[in-house]
Amino acid sequence: MSAPGTGIYLKMDLIYGLFDDGSRRGEMTIAIGSDHAGFKLKTDLIEYFQQHSIKYLDCGTFDTNRVDYPDFALKVAEAVTDHRCEKGVMICGTGIGISITANKIAGIRAALCCSEYMAEMARKHNDANLLAMGGRTTSPELALKILETFLHTDFEGGRHQIRVDKIHSLTGR
Ligand code: RB5
Repeated sequence: MSAPGTGIYLKMDLIYGLFDDGSRRGEMTIAIGSDHAGFKLKTDLIEYFQQHSIKYLDCGTFDTNRVDYPDFALKVAEAVTDHRCEKGVMICGTGIGISITANKIAGIRAALCCSEYMAEMARKHNDANLLAMGGRTTSPELALKILETFLHTDFEGGRHQIRVDKIHSLTGR
C-alpha cells in the first residue's frame, strides 16, 4: 500500500491466530516498527510472533535502507492510540530516539527496556503500552525474553494508576 502522493511504502501485514496452548493472546494485536538499525531485530521478533500465532501489524521499515526513526515511531504509536493495536514494539539502534519520539504522542507510555526486570516494571508500575529496544545494544535472545515479559505482565494499578494519571496530566506542557 502506498500513501498517495508521498511515495512512502507502508506495508500493513496482519497475521491472525491463537497460541498453540489454546490461550487467547493471539487476539491481541501488536504493532511493530523499526528504523534501518532495528530492522534485523524486528525481523527476529516477527518470526517469534508468527511461531506463536500472535497477531501483529508491521509498520515498517522493510529493509536496511537508511530512514528516520521518528517516522516509524509515529506509525507504531498511532496504531496504539487509534486502537488498531493494544501494544507496540519499536526498535532503533539504541531504542532511545524511537522512545523519545513516541512519548511525544498523547496516550503513549513508551519504555526503553534493556532487561527483563525493566520490562516487568514497565508493565507493573508504568502500564507501558510501547516497548522500545535497541537493535545495536540488545541481543536477539535477550530481546525475545524482554518481549515475552512485556507481553505477559499486567499493570498493578492502585498507587501506580495515580502516578500514570499524573504523567498524562502533563501532556502539552
Ligand atoms: C541510526 O543511526 C540511529 O541514530 C538510530 O537508530 C537510533 O539509535 C537513534 O536513537
